[in-house]
Amino acid sequence: MELAYKKQNCTQLSEEYIGKEAVLAGWAATIRDLGGIIFVEVRDRSGLFQVVADPKINPQVYETFQKLKSEYVIQVKGKVSKRPDDTINEKLLTGSIEMYPDEIKILSSSKTLPFVLEDETVSEDIRLKYRYLDLRCERMLNNLTLRHKIVTSVRNYLNSLDFLEVETPILIKTTPEGARDYLVPSRVHDGKFYALPQSPQVFKQLLMVGGIEKYYQIAKCFRDEDLRADRQPEFTQIDIEMSFVEQDDIIKMTEGLVKEAFKAAGVEIQPPFKRISWQEAMDRFGSDKPDTRFGLELFDVTDIMENSTFEAFKGVISKGGTVRAIKIPNIAHYSRKDMDDVRNLAIKFGAKGLAWVTYMQDGTVKSPVFKFLNEEQIEEIQKRAQAEKGDIVFFVADMPKVVYDVLGRFRLYFGEKLNLIDKSKHDLLWVVDFPLFEYSAEDDRFVSVHHPFTMPAYEDLDKLETDKGHVKSIAYDIVYNGCELGGGSIRIHDAAIQQRAFKALGLTEEDIKEKFEFLVQAFEYGTPPHGGLAIGLDRLVALLTRSESIRDVIAFPKNSQAKDLMSDAPGVASEQQLRELHLRLRNQPKVN
Ligand code: AMO
Ligand code: AMP
Repeated sequence: MELAYKKQNCTQLSEEYIGKEAVLAGWAATIRDLGGIIFVEVRDRSGLFQVVADPKINPQVYETFQKLKSEYVIQVKGKVSKRPDDTINEKLLTGSIEMYPDEIKILSSSKTLPFVLEDETVSEDIRLKYRYLDLRCERMLNNLTLRHKIVTSVRNYLNSLDFLEVETPILIKTTPEGARDYLVPSRVHDGKFYALPQSPQVFKQLLMVGGIEKYYQIAKCFRDEDLRADRQPEFTQIDIEMSFVEQDDIIKMTEGLVKEAFKAAGVEIQPPFKRISWQEAMDRFGSDKPDTRFGLELFDVTDIMENSTFEAFKGVISKGGTVRAIKIPNIAHYSRKDMDDVRNLAIKFGAKGLAWVTYMQDGTVKSPVFKFLNEEQIEEIQKRAQAEKGDIVFFVADMPKVVYDVLGRFRLYFGEKLNLIDKSKHDLLWVVDFPLFEYSAEDDRFVSVHHPFTMPAYEDLDKLETDKGHVKSIAYDIVYNGCELGGGSIRIHDAAIQQRAFKALGLTEEDIKEKFEFLVQAFEYGTPPHGGLAIGLDRLVALLTRSESIRDVIAFPKNSQAKDLMSDAPGVASEQQLRELHLRLRNQPKVN
């Protein structure tokens, strides 16, 4: 497209343009003054193109070239020419051509940049403070380009299946997903607050009541939670909901979507993906988002330890705990200090202790806990572990959640450390049959694993009142190389079951009325069976670009303290603003 200031993009030019007029505009990326001749690489979004000024050819143009500094915005007009053979740059798309412009205009000057653009040693804080400059780097441009391509392919796919893209509000009451809400004080209603949506969950279900049948949205979500590399306070979901579906429909639709998204990133994958139950994922991998690119599976030794004389383990088992183990190959040579480090790691991961057995290269077996076991038990452990010379088997005894978590993290730690993970693999799988509730010691009650609108497994409905801990749900997560890409569920569409689920969560009539009355009411007017899921777009793009953090695929992200270093958000509110919002601060905000 020809524009007022530019007729071509830099990399649109090729040898076909030789002898033809071109008008380029962009940034002066590199400037080299080779004793009388000045070479400038012009950069626009498409790439680089070399322009040259020679005082003997055009003294006026040369004079302007002399004024150029890095990152000035310029416009050049002139004929494209072939480069002399000895100056051809094979690495550049336009490396065989150049231009001696007839005209150059400086459209805007630039101060010296606070960092060198493509210098990979520059700290992320500096890059985030000057994000608009960081965006000029190839890495960010490529990431945002791929993000766009993925979103486009997702939209095309869903549109082709007759989905409607519908926007849902941002100023809402609350949509709980287990994180803290961001609140927005209301000026008009003294003392009242909007919440920002943690997801469009409630609204997309109401769209189903409203007869939309197939909805999607590239939706902004807001969650005030502790941040990590794969979490941002505001992030984007590919959010989907469908009516008249069961789990298989959602899974099949999502597999097609993920296939298209991967294709946009140049990766071919072939659905259907494996499915494993949550219980199996926990038992074998100690995680509900297992990385199945490598082995090191956990195994259960509770039955063996129960009959040992090891009181520490027996005590744990009698309280409902479990003892599980993992075999790590070829580390029997670990020194005492290495083992101390491993034990400290286990403690850091939440274990109360770590026991082990070492299968030495010379055939002997060493263990601080074997004195509590008889021959048969020792043999059984070796058999279950399939332990060989050089292996160490680690044991953790605790409540199941802790044991899974510690050994699951151990597994990942050693998988990485021992280089057991095939990084070229694209391992996609579904984790299904999640528990509906989990006990929260902090709140001393059962809380939703997914969210309160998730359908209990039909065969477990009876247990809602009697055995909450063992109710499975029709919920599913999609996992890619050990990362949770997305998740969803079939929803409760029956008002009576929804009431029972709320009650099981310990919500009183008043709580339900206050929080979800509109939803409960809506469900009384003809609700289709429905379900859906949401895929974390930022995570998807980060994984496909092999970025370390989702910050690398978001144009203007927050840092790990939820701050925008560029605009310095969050900022203080003026007294006037606070007054209008009917607020008074408990403490004066700290400077910085
Ligand atoms: P869930 O809470 O599992 O489900 O979120 C779905 C996906 O969103 C991504 N995600 C995040 N990405 C970046 N930063 C965060 N803080 C963050 N939190 C979540 C993850 C996650 O898998 N409404 C339900 C979906 C449904 O039931 O349809 C929901 O939000 O990739
Ligand atoms: P003790 O007899 O308490 O000294 O423990 C013997 C070994 O068992 C030590 O190596 C402890 O670290 C280990 N141990 C103790 N409690 C646990 C536990 N809950 N899980 C795993 N190992 C443990």
